[in-house]
Amino acid sequence: MKYFIYFSATGNGDFLANILKEKGYEPVKVETIKPLGKMNFFRILKYGGQAMTNKKAKIKPLSLELAKDDEVIIGSPIWNDRLSTPINTVLSMFEFDKETTKFILYPAGEGTKKSFKQLEKLGFKKQPLVISYPLKKQDAAKELLKTL
Ligand SMILES: Cc1cc2nc3c(=O)[nH]c(=O)nc-3n(C[C@H](O)[C@H](O)[C@H](O)COP(=O)(O)O)c2cc1C
Repeated sequence: MKYFIYFSATGNGDFLANILKEKGYEPVKVETIKPLGKMNFFRILKYGGQAMTNKKAKIKPLSLELAKDDEVIIGSPIWNDRLSTPINTVLSMFEFDKETTKFILYPAGEGTKKSFKQLEKLGFKKQPLVISYPLKKQDAAKELLKTL
């Protein structure tokens, strides 16, 4: 099986999930127990702060049984230059294959440095694919997904 396990607060990850579904990746959307609410300045500060301290958001149970030969892509928005807190949770819950698991990171700008460090520290070997603002740059996003 091929899976795209991802989080999306404002639709960019969902957009990528739809394209990846056409390529045979079953979307597995991570959902927080408490809805994050509509993003505004204060919430961005709050959640960005949580990402900065490597917090793990409480998430709804995922019905996911991974087999050894499953192909996994994990998708996260960038929060404060880091992985989003729901994805921190997922990474602590499953034993993903460090050699083969791929990551797609979707920031609004270009800043992803700390997230790269986080993934390196966790032992993931593949260079993440960065797709900046997929919803605003849809054609560029589609082209980048071809490079997977
Ligand atoms: C709490 C928070 C912090 C963010 N911090 C950054 C950041 O440091 N750098 C960046 O490029 N984008 C940042 N963003 C923007 C998101 O990474 C970007 O809009 C992403 O594509 C959203 O994905 P989604 O729509 O699937 O949730 C932040 C967004 C939120 C909500």
